[in-house]
Amino acid sequence: MRLKGKTAVITGGSGGIGKETAKLFLEEGAACLLVDVDQEAVEKAAEELKSFGTVYAVQADVSNDDDVVRWVKTAEEKLGRIDILFNNAGVEGKVKPLIEQEVEDFDFVMNVNVRGVFLGMKHVLPIMYKQESGSVINTSSVAGFIGSPGVLPYVTSKHAVIGATKTAALEAAPYQVRVNSIHPSPVNNRMMRSLEEGFSPGKAEEARQGLEQTIPLHRYGENADIAKLVLFLASDDAAFITGAQYRIDGGMAAN
Ligand SMILES: NC(=O)c1ccc[n+]([C@@H]2O[C@H](COP(=O)([O-])OP(=O)(O)OC[C@H]3O[C@@H](n4cnc5c(N)ncnc54)[C@H](O)[C@@H]3O)[C@@H](O)[C@H]2O)c1
Repeated sequence: MRLKGKTAVITGGSGGIGKETAKLFLEEGAACLLVDVDQEAVEKAAEELKSFGTVYAVQADVSNDDDVVRWVKTAEEKLGRIDILFNNAGVEGKVKPLIEQEVEDFDFVMNVNVRGVFLGMKHVLPIMYKQESGSVINTSSVAGFIGSPGVLPYVTSKHAVIGATKTAALEAAPYQVRVNSIHPSPVNNRMMRSLEEGFSPGKAEEARQGLEQTIPLHRYGENADIAKLVLFLASDDAAFITGAQYRIDGGMAAN
């Protein structure tokens, strides 16, 4: 029960990593609010997880300021305080060479993956500052460290999350609030199925095998692998860790 008595908000809460992390948080004693743009999916996720603990759902677009203000209000009403923010909602964008990327598609990815991370912190950090405690975990990617042909908007957005995380960590430290980022390699879930098809239309399985070869441990991460790292960073075991970038990538970015 490493999160006993704590409260957590998880954005992208009905997605692969978000839902698995919510399950682990609930098992470890936290009450959770799942936030997701997909109303049906987020309500279904909360319903499926309710046997593990206290869990609420709210539909909101993390890139929309009014929506973020609304979910933060819901969190305060339902949870009372916010000990943990897992700023995790994200989109992969379209797979195309950069000279063919549409401006609108670039803006969409940046809005969700960067503006969304900024807005979550902008509205939750004041609450954590008042509490003089809290842990924020922002989801970046190995794509925050390395380039990847065909996904410039995604790579750009995940590099940006590092700058946002470091700056927020420095501003939040005087309040004993910690901010870190995580950097998964490909994870075995919907987002990779979409990217595999984008990289190799009609040959997704071949794309997967090729990608697995670029990972020294020769496999994708699983949602549960990522959830365990998020639990560690959310918990008091990580009390002296802030402003850090945690790769969880089977060695992929060690090259
Ligand atoms: N799957 C991977 O291989 C991988 C690797 C590295 C990093 N990541 C990152 O992990 C995070 C979680 O992704 P995932 O792998 O669980 O994929 P996923 O697609 O299963 O989950 C993403 C979730 O975010 C939600 N979402 C999208 N736009 C939103 C918005 N505007 N507002 C609120 N919610 C929104 C989606 O509805 C979905 O539930 C993302 O930030 C992603 O970039 C994923």
